[in-house]
Amino acid sequence: MLSNKINSINPSLTLELSAKINKMKSDGIEVYNFTVGEPDFKTPRYIIDSAMEYLDEGIVRYTDTSGIAELREEISKKLNTVNGIKCDKDSIVVSTGAKQAIVNSLFAITNPNDEVLIPKPYWLSYPEMCKLTDCKTVTIPYNEQYKVDVNILDKYKTDNTKCLILNNPSNPTGVIYSKEELLEIGNWAVKNKIFIISDEIYERLSYDKKFISIASLSDEINDITITINGFSKSYAMTGFRLGYSCSRRDISKLIKRLQGHITSNANTISQIAGLTALKSESVEVNDMIDEFKARRNYIMEQLDELNIKYIKPEGAFYVFIKMSDFYNDKVQNSLEICDYLLSNYNIAFVPGVVFGDDNFIRMSYAASIEDIKNGLNKLKNFIQDQKMAN
Ligand SMILES: Cc1ncc(COP(=O)(O)O)c(C=O)c1O
Repeated sequence: MLSNKINSINPSLTLELSAKINKMKSDGIEVYNFTVGEPDFKTPRYIIDSAMEYLDEGIVRYTDTSGIAELREEISKKLNTVNGIKCDKDSIVVSTGAKQAIVNSLFAITNPNDEVLIPKPYWLSYPEMCKLTDCKTVTIPYNEQYKVDVNILDKYKTDNTKCLILNNPSNPTGVIYSKEELLEIGNWAVKNKIFIISDEIYERLSYDKKFISIASLSDEINDITITINGFSKSYAMTGFRLGYSCSRRDISKLIKRLQGHITSNANTISQIAGLTALKSESVEVNDMIDEFKARRNYIMEQLDELNIKYIKPEGAFYVFIKMSDFYNDKVQNSLEICDYLLSNYNIAFVPGVVFGDDNFIRMSYAASIEDIKNGLNKLKNFIQDQKMAN
């Protein structure tokens, strides 16, 4: 008898999709792939050079479980100055990606059967992470701005609610919370003694307004918030697997204790690379962000022209496109429409159902502008064919 718990975790629905895309590609078919969840840019050269240099010098030993002191110092400096979060190096635990930092945090603050509020549409790993920690996932609906607010939170809160996972900017919608919205949510959490895990991994990819970290809004909110961030998206460093949590001391101590028995420190070379990324940032990083913004603007223009509805993305590199208007007898849900678009028009998207909303599909613009143009032309063909058929 193998583990019931692990058996209950959903395998990634997107794996099947990837297999189909790869098969089409190997059959010589050109596929425009908009499923990708990582920047299509190279890791900036200054980061790679620094990692190589230290590798050559043999800096390859274990470090402190919570990360190299200098890196934690630099992260806390960034959080204080850029984000306005009061913290010091002992608030920080550096982990193997933001993913591990989130799982660590859930383990550190919850007990079995505690309830975790997860606003829809959500990043698909959150519910599965809750299963790992024996918590109960409570997915909650969105308001007219596709965000969660205190009226909704009040409806779903129970005596067992332990934590809210807030993803800002959001994957898959790209929406970003304003200071006022965050303050209301933060004060609500403080009043109800509920923790906030604030996943800010897409922080740098914020195009229209200044990004605000919820933990910066008051000492009380900072006290109940675990801020999650990392290097994957902002610095195109996905393969380095480097993320971190920032929390009050009693929580960071438990996170460190847990991590000490699982992975120990995050990869040493990656930590050095992360330190360089923060300390010696080059223009390459901002160039990447500008390019994402230009792509986003182009996609919005095209979708507007095609009269296709979508949630206006203010950040991250995704557009959540409403496709339920095109459901019919043949294609009845987001899985089927993604399969139809891939099989008939060679364009690949992620079905919204994996994010908890079957009316939408997610388009990633971590793809070249050429591919985006060609892919949107294919989408236009689909729309025209639909009109002809009706
Ligand atoms: C919302 C969100 N949080 C966390 C992560 C994980 O990031 P990392 O690569 O640092 O583990 C992702 C990756 O796709 C994400 O979309």
